[in-house]
Amino acid sequence: MANELWLLWATFAVSLLYYLSSLRRVAGNGASRLPPGPRPLPLVGNLLDLRGHLHHTLARLARIHGPVMRLKMGLTTAVVVSSRDAAREAFTRHDRRLAARAVPDAARASRFVERSMIWLPSSDPRWRSLRGVVASHVFSPRSLAAARGARERKVLDLLRYLRDHAGGEVDVGHAVYGGVLNLVPSAFFSIDVVDVGAESAQGLRKLVEGIIEAIAKPNVSDLFPFLRPLDLQGLRRRTGRQYEEIFGVLDGIIDGRLASKDTHGDFLDALLELMSLGKVARDNLTAILFDIFAAGTDTIAITVEWAMAELLKNPGIMAKVRMELESALGNKETIEEVDVASLPYLVAVVKEAMRLHPVAPILLPHLAEEDGVEIGGYTVPKGSSVIFNAWAIMRDPAVWERPEEFMPERFLDKQAANVDFKGKDFEFIPFGAGRRLCPGLSMSERVVPHIVASLLHGFDWRLPEGVSAEQLDLSEKFTTVNVLAVPLRAVPVLRT
Ligand code: HEM
Repeated sequence: MANELWLLWATFAVSLLYYLSSLRRVAGNGASRLPPGPRPLPLVGNLLDLRGHLHHTLARLARIHGPVMRLKMGLTTAVVVSSRDAAREAFTRHDRRLAARAVPDAARASRFVERSMIWLPSSDPRWRSLRGVVASHVFSPRSLAAARGARERKVLDLLRYLRDHAGGEVDVGHAVYGGVLNLVPSAFFSIDVVDVGAESAQGLRKLVEGIIEAIAKPNVSDLFPFLRPLDLQGLRRRTGRQYEEIFGVLDGIIDGRLASKDTHGDFLDALLELMSLGKVARDNLTAILFDIFAAGTDTIAITVEWAMAELLKNPGIMAKVRMELESALGNKETIEEVDVASLPYLVAVVKEAMRLHPVAPILLPHLAEEDGVEIGGYTVPKGSSVIFNAWAIMRDPAVWERPEEFMPERFLDKQAANVDFKGKDFEFIPFGAGRRLCPGLSMSERVVPHIVASLLHGFDWRLPEGVSAEQLDLSEKFTTVNVLAVPLRAVPVLRT
């Protein structure tokens, strides 16, 4: 008890000193160069201002305080970027200085951050090497082409699952997740993890989600870094156990391949060869598998669910996509990835779903590694985390016409036709931009429209009995990603 009291006092005293010194800094600077923001309280800073879904709350605060805004979270500082122009300045002038990560303490368990391309700072040679490995062996045009057959087979499995459930109500996200959960490992490691829709799919999902949830949980160790060694909430210990569990599964996959001596010509073979040449260590290999698995499954599945939800909400747009599918590929039995090239309207639907409902609405928090960063005339202090509110940027009324409306046509109009998500158009950054741009972009832009096209080609989709398009609830919920608050349920009807 005495220990806890002492801790509380120490925390309070340090926070108060910090608070007073920051007030002095602001006052002393005259025309302060620090970004404006809501007034922080001692100890907690602006935490109480952050209730609600984080990307919505940050957007609301930015409307009051501006597109470059400062928040205090305990002893730490965050700078939030919420407009296209501010994002452009950050990514074009300061990308290198902003390309480290604000690493939550829970992610540090098992020294995972020292092996993970998601968490290592971009200045670290290990990050460059890991990104190099995935760029040349996973996401290069050659590797993607080699795994195309495996990806397409997994989409067929998903369609088979839906055919078995045709006429009944299905949880669309649940089904798609099961399919993608196999698609990712099958494309990279030539294995199936689960039966689509089976409970085991949800078990594995829960394991990965458990880790992501623990990492995203508010943690006093992140707010008051001097408390880290104590891990007061036990979150680092918890993720440690979860990491071990999932690493066990991944190690089993690697050991199985090593023991079988079969070659599959897939990513895992390429990695094992790099390992035999001493270019990748064994525990890096597990970390790469984990990163790809964790970052690649939910993202694709949730994006497909959002696109389907918007189509069911907008029957006119659904009819237009169907017409396009009918006239471009009416006679084909199954749709291949290459067919997506003849479906520009469907691709526009997917882009519009990503604009309105990005799966990672605040990307992954960056960290200012160096001094000398100025955005919008404001200084970003070294050590601050930098949050890009992509959700707000992609609804910025200064850039997007009728930003709240689902209008795929905007991506076919002259004005926005060339706006793409490759990280060059800063008003449209669902995959981020700069050095930290999502390495899975090239795969996602093939897979997401292919799944949506296949779902529509194989089935007519209806809302459950008693739910009209107008009633369909498309509210968002920020967990660690941006999901539908009410999971989408719909009925796949076999097409005759
Ligand atoms: C629709 C699908 C996807 C979306 C919207 C998406 C979005 C993102 C975003 C916003 C980031 C953070 C960018 C930043 O920090 O600025 C990211 C990072 C990452 N993504 Fe994706 N992603 C998708 C699919 C994938 C797939 C399929 C994979 C792998 C198979 C993948 C692997 C990664 C990895 C490893 C990182 C961390 C990269 C780093 O920090 O250097 N993503 N993604």
